[in-house]
Amino acid sequence: MLVDSRNEEPAWTGPAPRPNIEAIKPYKPGKPIEQVVRELGLRGHIDKLASNENPLGPSPKALAALRKELKNLHYYPEDSCHVLRDKLAKRFKAPLDGVMVGNGSVDIILQACLAFLGPETDLVTSVGSFVMAKVGTAVAGGRCLEVPTDEYRHDLDRILENVTERTRIVYLDNPMNPLGTMVNRRELDKFVSRLPDHVLLIVDEAYAEYITSRFYPRALDYVKKKRNVLVLRTFSKVYGLAGLRVGFGITRPELAGTIGKVRLPFNVSRAAQVAAAAALDDTAHVEKSRKLVDEGRKYLCAELKRLQVFNIPSLTNFVLVNFAVNAQAVFEALQRHGVITRTVRQYGFPNALRVTIGTADQNKRFIKALGAALEQLKTQ
Ligand SMILES: Cc1ncc(COP(=O)(O)O)c(C=O)c1O
Repeated sequence: MLVDSRNEEPAWTGPAPRPNIEAIKPYKPGKPIEQVVRELGLRGHIDKLASNENPLGPSPKALAALRKELKNLHYYPEDSCHVLRDKLAKRFKAPLDGVMVGNGSVDIILQACLAFLGPETDLVTSVGSFVMAKVGTAVAGGRCLEVPTDEYRHDLDRILENVTERTRIVYLDNPMNPLGTMVNRRELDKFVSRLPDHVLLIVDEAYAEYITSRFYPRALDYVKKKRNVLVLRTFSKVYGLAGLRVGFGITRPELAGTIGKVRLPFNVSRAAQVAAAAALDDTAHVEKSRKLVDEGRKYLCAELKRLQVFNIPSLTNFVLVNFAVNAQAVFEALQRHGVITRTVRQYGFPNALRVTIGTADQNKRFIKALGAALEQLKTQ
């Protein structure tokens, strides 16, 4: 192998990638618990409050369905995910051909980007939105316009001002990750009515099940009105199946057909399909999970206030906690106390940590660790 003596990096000898590939800032996922434990040599109990997973675990019904399916793992899955899509179509009263299933909802975001974006085309989103739309745009070779938020929420008027002939996709995470805030029905109604027909609006509702506000807009309503809207949901959050990778989208059948052309065959495993179908029916588990988050959020917000730490009011299963100082030191101190949270520097918030709402015990341990960490940092 050739070595460039100036920086000791091996010189590139393979085929040149497309220029946009070089520019991609890869998505940095939260580290799995095993990796953090290994890297830091942590011992004892660890609480992972980093990736907005369900602390109650998978639905027992999903686990039972999975166990039954294990003996069939030598068979490829059903490529069309028919059983799961049919269930989703019935649940959401949507046409079957408009229901898409992905290897996580990130898969569907990437598919939409690959289907609609390329040179001379734009995706418009907000600064601080979920990063996958930006990654997908870069992979497709399009341009991503990031519009500043207003009071930690999507600024829909400014987003609209950035929509031009070049725009193919507007991506709104509602609620936003990592901010945890939403736009309401009146605001989104107005936005959708003003959005031109050559634009696909993706509304990513990964945390929708946690929201009880009657002002929360269910973007499926726009799909039903035949607007160019793709609504995304996931089994990774309230359904507790993040490890299986399964998410879904609902849109107009014509759009689903176009986007589906770039889908990889068998993109959703057998295990994921059966578990998701069973989890969808486990309304008791969903309700228990939602309630846990509701109570946990109230507890955490009250305790953060007591510790005089600012957090952005959240509608989701996580809170964005803002410190007066760079959050990296707090993050590391928390890790030494056995609590793994998430830095959000890559979203433009160097002073904040995103903390997943855990079980009551996990929340208590986090608050105790945070109190201790802040005391230690004060004295340094
Ligand atoms: C807004 C948003 N969309 C999508 C995802 C990813 O979902 P999935 O696990 O289905 O790919 C996340 C995960 O954190 C998210 O916050």
